[in-house]
Parts: sequence; structure tokens; C-alpha cells
Amino acid sequence: MILETERLNLTPLAIADSPFLYRFMSDAEVMAHWDRPAIDDPDAVDAAIAAEIAEMEAGSALYWSTRLRADGAFLGYCELVEIDRRRHQAEIGVIIDRDAWGLGYATEALAAVLAHCASPLGLKRLTARTHVGDGRAEHLLQKLGFKPGGYLNGHVGRDGERRDCRLFTFAV
Ligand SMILES: CC(C)(COP(=O)(O)OP(=O)(O)OC[C@H]1O[C@@H](n2cnc3c(N)ncnc32)[C@H](O)[C@@H]1OP(=O)(O)O)[C@@H](O)C(=O)NCCC(=O)NCCS
Repeated sequence: MILETERLNLTPLAIADSPFLYRFMSDAEVMAHWDRPAIDDPDAVDAAIAAEIAEMEAGSALYWSTRLRADGAFLGYCELVEIDRRRHQAEIGVIIDRDAWGLGYATEALAAVLAHCASPLGLKRLTARTHVGDGRAEHLLQKLGFKPGGYLNGHVGRDGERRDCRLFTFAV
């Protein structure tokens, strides 16, 4: 389903978006606090997107490419993963291209996804996870009304070590 905001269009992720995703998925600074490290092989991005499209087809996740309405510029993507229809909950995430940080795009895109979670998805509770020390993401989530919860010790294995995560929750 396409989501529209004042400045943004969110469209379901498609394999044709791969070159745009490669631009930021290969950027170590953008990926510094993501569960997977920067990818330097465009074929690996193709494979990651194919897997995400399969998740959408199975109904367990939704991924949206985010573009500027004004000129179609590709800005990033939003995800709703681990969709649990029985418990009415899911996990949310967002990436924005580094050149466009600090302009309110993540706030605007996630606000549209949060509205979509209420209706038509009927979700009641969302979680988001940050890697401890990611002040930018923590600020974003709290601005949107997420409440900080506990810490998940060693939750993510990355770059040869275990990283702690912080859990945030949102009552839809
Ligand atoms: C986190 C991320 C999505 C934010 O995107 P963005 O479009 O820059 O976000 P916004 O402009 O909507 O809001 C950013 C807020 O963080 C604030 N901020 C910026 N740098 C900050 C920092 N180092 N520490 C704390 N807050 C910071 C901004 O001032 C802004 O808040 P404000 O509107 O109250 O001024 C983007 O940096 C990103 O893609 N990071 C990499 C992927 C990632 O880690 N995602 C988080 C997973 S949930």
C-alpha cells in the first residue's frame, strides 16, 4: 500500500530500488547502528531485497521505499518486521540517506507508518530497537512517542562482537 505525507511518498519496496538502496547500505556511517554491516557488493543488496520481498509476500513484514514527492529523489526506507497478527504487534525501523539527515524526513515517514499500523493493520503495540549509543535514533523514537524500555544484552552480533540494544515501545 502506498503511503503519502506532505513531502514524501512511501511505496512498497521493489527489486528496481536496489541501486538506490545500495547507495546508503554501502555507507558505513549510515549502517553504523544497523543490525547488518555496510554491504559493498551490489549483488548482496539485490539478495537482501529479494528476501525482504519474500517476507512481504508471506505477510510477515512490510517495507517501503521513501521518495521526495517534489522530484522523486530516493531518500531511504521504512520497515515493519516481525508482524505478529495474533498479538497485534510488530517491530519498526527506518533508514534515511545521510545527505538528507536532520530535515525531519524520518519523523514524517514513521508518522505515516504509525498511522497505517492503527488502520488498516490493526496493530496495538510496536517495538523499535536501537544499538546502545545511537542518540540520533533514540531522540527520533522518543519524539514520536516511543517509551524507552529495557536493554537487550548482546542482542546483535556484528563486526565480531555482541552489541547491546535498547528497546522502545509504542502503544498504537
Ligand atoms: C536515525 C535516522 C533514521 C534519523 O533520520 P532523520 O531524517 O535525520 O531524522 P529527523 O530529521 O526526522 O529527526 C532527527 C532528530 O534527531 C536529532 N538529532 C540529530 N543528531 C542527533 C544526535 N547525535 N543525538 C541526538 N539527537 C540527534 C535532530 O535534531 C532531530 O530532532 P529534532 O527534530 O527534535 O530537532 C537517520 O539518522 C538514519 O538513517 N540512521 C541510520 C539508520 C538507523 O540507525 N536507524 C535507526 C533504526 S530505528
